[in-house]
Amino acid sequence: DPAITFYEAVGGEATFRLLVDEFYAGVAEDPLLRPLYPEDDLGPANDRLRLFLIQYWGGPGTYQEQRGHPRLRMRHAPFVIGPAERDAWLHHMRRAVDALNLPADQATTLWDYLERAAYFMVNATDV
Ligand code: HEM
Repeated sequence: DPAITFYEAVGGEATFRLLVDEFYAGVAEDPLLRPLYPEDDLGPANDRLRLFLIQYWGGPGTYQEQRGHPRLRMRHAPFVIGPAERDAWLHHMRRAVDALNLPADQATTLWDYLERAAYFMVNATDV
């Protein structure tokens, strides 16, 4: 089917669940990133990132139903995100993407987006 979404092509919900679980396993141990997350439990943040990525790549629109328009830069404004936070975020995401063992073209598509999005989210400079 030429109309298959990237979401379906990479394995659907299970793939994004694995990606985001691996990512937050890294964040949970990260002394720079962990304090940014306001909640004792990373579960709600895990749900939001997973549902956002699923929607972005053509899967179900549950994110928007629950959270409204993503407006991600605005939603990140309360957090100081400089180059160090961006690079730490990308470090854990790189490991998570690698853990999926996707075909190289799919891994590249996913990674290029995540890298661009992380640079876009920076709202502070290191001192
Ligand atoms: C939310 C940090 C990049 C997607 C959050 C939150 C923090 C955070 C602290 C609040 C946790 C929560 O949901 O309660 C960061 C840092 C980044 C980064 C340090 C480094 C660059 C990104 C990128 C994306 C993203 C690149 C998308 C590709 C999201 C989403 C939410 C979120 C979807 C939940 C928004 C909502 O519905 O409220 N992020 N983030 N983040 N982040 Fe990031």
